[in-house]
Amino acid sequence: MNSIHIGVVGAGTMGAGIAQVAAQSGHQVVLVDANPEALTKAENGLRKVYDKLIEKEKITREKADEIIARIQFSIHLSDFKESGLIIEAIIEKLEVKHQVFSAIEAVVSENCIIASNTSSLSIASIGSVLKNPTRCIGIHFFNPAPLMPLVEIIPAVQTSNETLTLAKSIIDSWKKISVVTKDTPGFIVNRVARPFYGEALRIYEEGIADFATIDWAMTTVGGFRMGPFTLMDYIGNDVNYTVTETVFEAFYFDPRFKPSFTQKRHKEAGYFGRKSGKGFFDYSADATPATPTEDLDLAKSIFERIIVMLINEATDALFLNIASREDIDLAMTNGVNYPKGLLKWADELGLDFVLNSLENLFQEYGEDRYRPSALLRRMVREGKMFY
Ligand code: NAI
Repeated sequence: MNSIHIGVVGAGTMGAGIAQVAAQSGHQVVLVDANPEALTKAENGLRKVYDKLIEKEKITREKADEIIARIQFSIHLSDFKESGLIIEAIIEKLEVKHQVFSAIEAVVSENCIIASNTSSLSIASIGSVLKNPTRCIGIHFFNPAPLMPLVEIIPAVQTSNETLTLAKSIIDSWKKISVVTKDTPGFIVNRVARPFYGEALRIYEEGIADFATIDWAMTTVGGFRMGPFTLMDYIGNDVNYTVTETVFEAFYFDPRFKPSFTQKRHKEAGYFGRKSGKGFFDYSADATPATPTEDLDLAKSIFERIIVMLINEATDALFLNIASREDIDLAMTNGVNYPKGLLKWADELGLDFVLNSLENLFQEYGEDRYRPSALLRRMVREGKMFY
């Protein structure tokens, strides 16, 4: 498998990480970027990563040098000639991806797979410019690519079975956890995770609890590694808000994905989170840490509201065959570090409990965002569980 040459286009955050993963797995890699400075930055970044690993005695100097030597840094797409798989990780603009995809197809062999790491564009639309679109597929890594185990594999309507099988087996050989998902907005993770942020923001907006208390509820009662507000500050409110807005639009404005004014205003104010020193919380050196109200009953009700909304989204993704039950659970535990798969969690809580909580919310608010998935109703009616 590692005899296949890999091409990566775009040497930014994602492309550099993907090139590293491929080289570590023994492939010859060509990393192309239109901007030579990006290539220098990627190469220096990579050397720094390995220097740290050598210092910690996780890898020898010889081994690290060998890995780096497998990567050719280039500004020419024509250097992709020998590649069997190319992963595109350039700017998120359809017109630019189209130009690059056409240019790549003109230099590679007939059998070369051309994949995109896009987060928000459809694979069908990206692949449509190819003369042979059956070779196009989505291969979506999570940031940072060398550390996050999950990779979503997204066949488009045009993708052949051969392309899917080969792409998946290459990614599996990189010791990644791959899940196959339909070419629909947000794929699995960026769709199913929306209520973690959206419902937390809504609870805050209703004045039920402050940021710190909601985070405390999700970490203490839910066992999540980070609360939603800490996580949004970590991802960046600019980035996280844009994902929400994109998913909302892509779903024809389904109210279930409606963005929040609270997050929008934080973004507009430049309160991006950790990277700007202030987000929902203050990260300046002299800041007093926000303290939660440690009321366990309140925390339980906050957790219940967020978890049933997450489970509803996971159930609906299963209902619409976005991915298998196992892959939906694997995606959330390996892409966003959830403590448990949501469908497994649903079984543990009891599907009748989940449905009942959603029906109470739906009745109280009369809003479509709380409508229970048809599959959840059906399963409760038939007395079934997910596993
Ligand atoms: P980035 O801005 O860090 O890097 C993009 C690189 O592409 C830059 O170095 C730029 O010079 C290069 N580039 C732009 N146009 C080019 C062209 N025509 N030819 C060659 N190189 C070109 O972007 P990032 O964050 O690495 O994202 C890349 C892709 O990965 C996007 O499609 C994004 O949606 C996706 N993605 C991003 C994630 C993230 O957390 N940043 C996570 C998963 C996917």
